[in-house]
Amino acid sequence: MSEARTISIPKNMTNVEHSNTDEYLAFCDYLEEISGITLGTNKAYLVKNRLRPILTAHGVETLADAMKKIKRGVDPKLNLEIIDAMTTNETSWFRDQYPFEYLHDELLPKLKGKRMATPKIWSAACSHGHEAYSISMIIDEYTSRNPGAFPTDIQIIGTDISSRVIKSASAAEYDRLSIARGLSEDRKKKYFTETNNEHYSLISKIKNRVRFQYLNLLESYASMGKFDIIFCRNVLIYFSNENKSAIMEKFAKALNHDGVLILGASETVSNYSKAFEMVKCKRGVVYRHF
Ligand SMILES: C[S@@+](CC[C@H](N)C(=O)[O-])C[C@H]1O[C@@H](n2cnc3c(N)ncnc32)[C@H](O)[C@@H]1O
Repeated sequence: MSEARTISIPKNMTNVEHSNTDEYLAFCDYLEEISGITLGTNKAYLVKNRLRPILTAHGVETLADAMKKIKRGVDPKLNLEIIDAMTTNETSWFRDQYPFEYLHDELLPKLKGKRMATPKIWSAACSHGHEAYSISMIIDEYTSRNPGAFPTDIQIIGTDISSRVIKSASAAEYDRLSIARGLSEDRKKKYFTETNNEHYSLISKIKNRVRFQYLNLLESYASMGKFDIIFCRNVLIYFSNENKSAIMEKFAKALNHDGVLILGASETVSNYSKAFEMVKCKRGVVYRHF
């Protein structure tokens, strides 16, 4: 654990409640160690409720037993299912708007000018794929106005720690609720086909530009290669300062010179890395690696 944690224990708490608190705190440490996600000390009830069906399905009664089982290496699926259940996968199309306007108006024209081999964009912590596919739609709109802008098509890679969302992102099929979040009627008509009354399937020219794979942001990025732009939004808020710094240093190494890091609206590089300079855009900021 990187930051000191305090928990207030009521004086009238029973021994059983004490041991439940210890078990919960041990689970918080375990979750942070494997995923970076820090949990509040007041989430015990919520966490236990969320995990109960998984523990039951794997024949374990308590969080402590689940952690023991994982450490013995006898049930690797249990670990994956716990991660899937503990991640917050909230996302939408063109989330916050300005990163996508900046991509269209500033970053793609700059990449066009460089005429490099294959420009690469990374959507890190991509959830169900809305961000990566929003980027692909922007590229489609830009290249239709600027034919031949890039000698080879831009590659987009989406990564996430949750295998459940990687599967869903790769399928590129969305229900009525999910399609409605931030997508204009025009783009819905242009880029999706309705498979039945409930689902919308992304057309292949937008889908094929994107590849999804598992990646834990706490691990090495060496196999990912170099990128021109990295989107990593609305995930670092869950991490300790120590993990934020380590991740931003690794992003700096994964970016080409002059590459750009785009964080969530409530996230910042300040205090965590000296490898970036802040660039103001119309309705937000991005970070240029120098
Ligand atoms: C709130 S969603 C944000 C999705 C998208 N970036 C956006 O802004 O709409 C956070 C995502 O981070 C992923 N995540 C959490 N910890 C991670 C880690 N250590 N490595 C990679 N992804 C992680 C979760 O699985 C989840 O899909």
